[in-house]
Amino acid sequence: MNIILLGPPGAGKGTQARMLVEERGMVQLSTGDMLREAKDSGTEMGNIVADVMARGALVTDEIVIGLIKEKLETVKANGFIFDGFPRTLAQADALGDLLEAVGETLAHVVEMRVDDEALVARITARSTCGGCGEVYNDNTKPIPSDGACTNCGKKDDFKRRADDNEESLKTRLMEYYKQTSPLIGYYYAKGKLSRVDGLGAIDAVQAEIKSVLDS
Ligand code: AP5
Repeated sequence: MNIILLGPPGAGKGTQARMLVEERGMVQLSTGDMLREAKDSGTEMGNIVADVMARGALVTDEIVIGLIKEKLETVKANGFIFDGFPRTLAQADALGDLLEAVGETLAHVVEMRVDDEALVARITARSTCGGCGEVYNDNTKPIPSDGACTNCGKKDDFKRRADDNEESLKTRLMEYYKQTSPLIGYYYAKGKLSRVDGLGAIDAVQAEIKSVLDS
C-alpha cells in the first residue's frame, strides 16, 4: 500500500512515517531527507540545493522528481510512504505517472491538520539524532537526560536543522499555502483524501492514520 502524508512543515509527517516504517515495514521516501543527505555529502546537487533549503524555498520539480523516480525504480517495498513529496501540482502529476510506470497505485493521501502557532512552536523546539534521524522535541519528546538516543543509543549527537528558524519557517509556510495546499483539492477530487487531526498526541495521531490505512 502506497500513501502520501501531506501537511505543512512541522505537522508531524516524519514522526508518523517513522512509526509506520517500524510497525508495518513500509519504506519512507522523504525528499527532505534525501536532499539533506546530498547536501551533507557535498555532491554537486547538494551544493545547488543547500541555499534554497536554508531559505525555506522549494527545490526545483526536476530535481525532486528525479530523486523519487530513482527510488521507485530501484527499491522494493511493502508499500511506500511519501513524506514531503509531492509538494506541487507538477510533482503530483509526475508521481501518478511514475507509480503507473512501475505498476503501483496510490491508496491514501492523509492530510495532517495543525494550526500555524503549533507549527512554529514545534519546529523551533525540534532536534534530530545524528545517528539515526530519530526526531525529538524540547517540549513534547525531550532528549533523554543521559544524552543517549532512545532509538539507536548514540550519545550526545543531536542536531538542529539549518531551516528551523522563524525566518525560514515563514517562507516554508508561505510555500506550503501557495504551492502545496492545492494538492488537498487535487487528491480530494481523485477520491484519495482523508484528514486527521495532527494536533493530538503523537500516539493519537498514529491511531487515526492507521484507521485510515485499514479502512
Ligand atoms: P522537509 O524535510 O520535507 O521539511 P518539512 O515539510 O518542512 O517538514 P518537517 O520535516 O519540518 O516537518 P514534519 O512534518 O516531518 O514534522 P516532524 O515529524 O519532524 O523539507 C525541507 C526542505 O527541503 C523544504 O523546505 C524544501 O526546501 C526541500 N524540499 C523537500 N521536499 C521537497 C519537494 N518535494 N519539492 C521541493 N522542495 C522540497 O515534527 C516536527 C516536531 O514536532 C518534532 O520536534 C516532533 O517531535 C514534534 N511533533 C510531531 N508530532 C507531534 C505531535 N502530535 N504533538 C506534539 N509534537 C509533535
